[in-house]
Amino acid sequence: MTDKNHNFLLKQKIRKHARLQRLSLTMTQQDEAAKRVANIIGQDKRIKEANNFAIFISFDGEINTNYLINMLWNKNKKVYLPALHPLKNRPLLFINYTPTTSLVVNRLNLYEPPLDFKKVLSLEQIDILFIPLVAFDYYGNRLGMGGGFYDRTLQQYNNKLSCFIIGLAHDCQYYTTISLPIDRWDVPLPEIITPSFHFNWNQSFYNKKQN
Ligand SMILES: Nc1ncnc2c1ncn2[C@@H]1O[C@H](COP(=O)(O)OP(=O)(O)O)[C@@H](O)[C@H]1O
Ligand SMILES: [Mg+2]
Repeated sequence: MTDKNHNFLLKQKIRKHARLQRLSLTMTQQDEAAKRVANIIGQDKRIKEANNFAIFISFDGEINTNYLINMLWNKNKKVYLPALHPLKNRPLLFINYTPTTSLVVNRLNLYEPPLDFKKVLSLEQIDILFIPLVAFDYYGNRLGMGGGFYDRTLQQYNNKLSCFIIGLAHDCQYYTTISLPIDRWDVPLPEIITPSFHFNWNQSFYNKKQN
């Protein structure tokens, strides 16, 4: 078996395991986890100065971002959601999301704001980018749902983004005993917040503009 196939199968196996883990959390556990993560972020000093937040609508047992989104709206922050580009395999678009936006279902069955190029913000204008994930390890390696969308989105900036990039996850998505299989296109996360952990690897590596 080639390395590529080996990684592909291993990633699929870990995805399946991690997705089952987070889907088996009870509603109470889900709710507690969501509140804790929203509280941690609400107390983060960086929130005050930031205006534009890219976030995601949770599905498949992902940590619920509703508290976080409402908190940001209450603080008069601008919230953006990822949307699929009409052309396949292009980086994600980030579209403004307000309490009056009616979301639509995209081809991956995920909710996104209707495409309106006037409401699209370049990732370079985003101050804090929250990223969903299926699994992560001690080094910040990230496993997504398997579409490689965030890898492609981050790769186009070649580590020159000035925003803070923060993965959000449940504790059970942390793989403590193994390092995750990675491919050459995988972009690791510089920071991850879970209800119990706050990992910070090296944001300055990403935030070269600020150096
Ligand atoms: N920067 C990129 N350039 C080309 N293809 C990419 C890039 N990033 C990801 N891909 C493609 O996306 C697919 C899924 O990537 P993978 O890292 O396994 O998914 P995920 O990051 O969602 O866990 C891969 O088969 C790969 O070919
Ligand atoms: Mg990847």
